[in-house]
Amino acid sequence: MCGIVGYTGSRKVVPVLLEGLRRLEYRGYDSAGIVYQMDGEIVKYRAAGKLANLEKEVDDIIGTDSHTGLGHTRWATHGVPNEDNAHPHSDCTGELVVVHNGIIENYSSLKEELLADGHIFSSETDTEVLAHLIEKYLEKDLVAAVRQALARVEGSYALGVMWAREPDKLIGARNQSPLVMGLGEDACYLASDIPALLPFTREVIFLDDNELVLLEKGSYSIMDIEDGASLEKLPTRIDWNPAMAEKAGYKHFMLKEIYEQPQAIIDTVKGRVFPDTGMIQLPEIGLTDKEVKNIERIALVACGTSWHAALVAKYWIEKWAGIPVDVDIASEFRYRSLLMNERVLTIAISQSGETADTLAGIRRASSLGSRVITICNVVGSTMTREADGVIYTHAGPEISVASPKAFTSQLSALFLLTLYLGQVRGTMDREVRLQLGRALIDIAATIETILPVLQKRIRTMIEDFYTARDFLFVGRGLNFPIALEGALKLKEISYIHAEGYAAGELKHGPIALIDKDMPVLALVPQDAVYQKTVSNVEEIKARQGRILLIGTEGDHHLTTLTDNVLFMPEVLEDLNPLLYTIPAQLLSYEIANRLGCDVDQPRNLAKSVTVE
Ligand code: F6R
Repeated sequence: MCGIVGYTGSRKVVPVLLEGLRRLEYRGYDSAGIVYQMDGEIVKYRAAGKLANLEKEVDDIIGTDSHTGLGHTRWATHGVPNEDNAHPHSDCTGELVVVHNGIIENYSSLKEELLADGHIFSSETDTEVLAHLIEKYLEKDLVAAVRQALARVEGSYALGVMWAREPDKLIGARNQSPLVMGLGEDACYLASDIPALLPFTREVIFLDDNELVLLEKGSYSIMDIEDGASLEKLPTRIDWNPAMAEKAGYKHFMLKEIYEQPQAIIDTVKGRVFPDTGMIQLPEIGLTDKEVKNIERIALVACGTSWHAALVAKYWIEKWAGIPVDVDIASEFRYRSLLMNERVLTIAISQSGETADTLAGIRRASSLGSRVITICNVVGSTMTREADGVIYTHAGPEISVASPKAFTSQLSALFLLTLYLGQVRGTMDREVRLQLGRALIDIAATIETILPVLQKRIRTMIEDFYTARDFLFVGRGLNFPIALEGALKLKEISYIHAEGYAAGELKHGPIALIDKDMPVLALVPQDAVYQKTVSNVEEIKARQGRILLIGTEGDHHLTTLTDNVLFMPEVLEDLNPLLYTIPAQLLSYEIANRLGCDVDQPRNLAKSVTVE
């Protein structure tokens, strides 16, 4: 949520800021702004709407000979998305500027105080309070003033601060919102997220809560905000490259990332499952075999798409490892009474590793004595640094809000974890583990083969459905979470109202919605609950629902129920969720694209939800 970029060094700053913002736009796209230093003055440009609007405005000043500046792309929390509320925000003198991601919770009382002191505000944002509060304490030393101001602030922030009177210097500070600095030759960078840095450097330092960094050309110093104590932190090298975060000829990042799934699955599984022996290796979870055997319960915690992956994993882990699993939405988990002890393993699932509720959830579980591991895609993200163990998904940078490859790589990691738990606890036969491990490896090739054919077929099929106002997705067992995920994908990128249900739940209410205008997509692989799901489809047909089916190749019965059938190759039942989510993703993509929606930047959404 909100993207920050900062630079001080020998390059001309405007192109660096714009390039960084382009790569962070998935974090927010309500408005954008940049600010730079020029002959002892601050020059600021801001524009409402997408980054393209700002780019138009700064077209003439790209070559400006300034070498220090800040940029911001906004996801509105306080104040509507217009130019006045766009960052950077200034103090009364216009010499001090601030960009911010997070929420200043006590901003109203601070604003009252500052208004009484005579400060003049020009926006409705909580962020502007920071600019004036720093101004209040500012005499000669910017670092000291920022520290004094932050001592009064409640809430979350990743900040960038710049002052005209201390040229070539930037300050970054963090509390509960992600901030990373990059190290270049004679240059230092600041960013909310790694993709902004990839074109310039892969040497990064992740700031932790309550840390401040002073950046100067090619040098930096990190300190504790509260006591000012200097801190030594080692850089991390990121192995992503800039091309991985580009569209590579695809119309949208979402489509590119749908097609990247086979590779993401291979990269996540590689080196962890041995097809000859069926042995699973997951040393990174940081648990001894004795501790694994002692697990009494698992708590899976996540939001959105990652939560759907957790729901699938509950079926797998309970079936194969015999461990009871609770699955919680993180925003609920963090505030409810929790029964925790050291034998409860909490697993946070998160693409970004920065989702505020999931992070708060693991902090709470940990404080109650639970061991915490995370399944995460972003190396060095806050969750990976706070958890006791990390299973990385190796999906590469994910830009599209809809998160397709994060989902299937999370499923792959969770399936691996299931096999590992079964192996250590002795709840699975070696032969079964071997068979399932091989099937997991093979699923990548299966997906690779079906993708283009499926996309073509779906593109034609949606002509009958893309104007629908509502949509139901139904499935049973392992495919119930896939129905939820399919509905989430469709609603978030096409704005068609969509709901996912357990097929058996239809009769308890949702069936009332079915008539000739209601499309219902049912997931009906030939699995253990096939007959039950088919009966539910018959009930929908009897009420003239418009049926789409996704089922097993060769299942001719499905064609008697509707003309709209997508056939999928037969794989081991446990792996159906990885396969059946692909047509659901493509269906949403094709419908949203057909409707002309902004697939990668759906309204009101931001990729990384770093505020509550
Ligand atoms: C939906 C989507 C979101 C994220 C959710 C969690 O397509 O992408 O629902 O899944 O915000 O994000 P992470 O996985 O980064 O914690």
